[in-house]
Amino acid sequence: MLGIETSCDETAASVVRLTPGAPVAVLSSVVLSQTAEHAPYGGVVPEIAARAHVESIDAIVGRALADAGVTPAALDGVAATAGPGLVGGVMVGLSFGKAMALALGKPLIAVNHLEGHALSARLTADIPYPFLLLLVSGGHCQLLEVAGVGACTRLGSTIDDAAGEAFDKIGGALGLPYPAGPALERLAAGGDESRYPLPRALLGRAGCDFSFSGLKTAAARLAATMTGDTDRRDLAAAVQAAIARQLTDRTERAMSVYDSAHGGGQRRFVVAGGVAANGAVRKALETLATRRGFSFSAPPLAYCTDNAAMIALAGAERLALGLTDPLDVVARPRWPLDEAAARLNPTHIAGRKGAKA
Ligand code: KG4
Ligand code: ZN
Repeated sequence: MLGIETSCDETAASVVRLTPGAPVAVLSSVVLSQTAEHAPYGGVVPEIAARAHVESIDAIVGRALADAGVTPAALDGVAATAGPGLVGGVMVGLSFGKAMALALGKPLIAVNHLEGHALSARLTADIPYPFLLLLVSGGHCQLLEVAGVGACTRLGSTIDDAAGEAFDKIGGALGLPYPAGPALERLAAGGDESRYPLPRALLGRAGCDFSFSGLKTAAARLAATMTGDTDRRDLAAAVQAAIARQLTDRTERAMSVYDSAHGGGQRRFVVAGGVAANGAVRKALETLATRRGFSFSAPPLAYCTDNAAMIALAGAERLALGLTDPLDVVARPRWPLDEAAARLNPTHIAGRKGAKA
């Protein structure tokens, strides 16, 4: 299966082989990051992203096929991200995938980017369904019960910002380059996390939702007044601790919900998305999983952040179930993984266009 990913600021292509009863084989995974092009603006500029995808998509797909040693004729299908994401970018990858599928006479699979993240841990480890997933990235923060492709139930979601967005905005206010998560983690090392009391929204509250906007605003305001290195280090440590604390508090609630649905069996917990790269976050979640009797897995870093191998895997699993898409399938900037949950919970309806993810 060829996978194509262009929903944000990475142009990516990958070839994955799925054989029943055997481990997944990632034959190639090429990721071209546009970080340098967006860095001067402190965030991803949609128009710059879409143009950069157009300029490199054919070379990146060509390299993924060459690295895998696979001819287009040997593919069983073409999978492309069809949303959610920046629609200009999504259209580039999806149109490219449609053209290849049409020219080759192979099936097209339109993949939800979030389903790719949800399955990413299965690229390198044998993790049977169902499992509990925390997806925590720059654009998303949600807890899902993953029972298979097309079978994700959302247990909770952020009601405002994603955790990665909080890392990026606060890091930006501290003068760190975008994306600021990794730099904030380095700055936090050795800092005193108890020096600055920060808002800890929703802690101990019912439900599994997240909220990071209060923390983001309070910390960014404090950061703007700081000049000393010790102050900045202590604030970074406090921010990291507050984010880790909220992620574990909400995840523990989701573990209880998951347990009541599965009677305490099949206790598997997976964390995916760019923020899973944070050592403090990872350690706090692993400690929680051990305490609650859940196995803990996180995909390797290359598959935590945006990549096309996870899109190819979702496409291959879908094709194995006979789930393919017509060539007139549309790019969707907003596409919740669990549409029923998104409709039922109006707090997640972001803006007049409806739920984002
Ligand atoms: O999954 P991803 O590559 O892109 C999407 O948002 O879909 O995640 C990127 C996010 C950024 O917000 C980045 O700052 C954050 O993950 N991130 C981190 C770390 N590494 C990446 N946040 C905190 N600590 C890190 N070490
Ligand atoms: Zn992503």
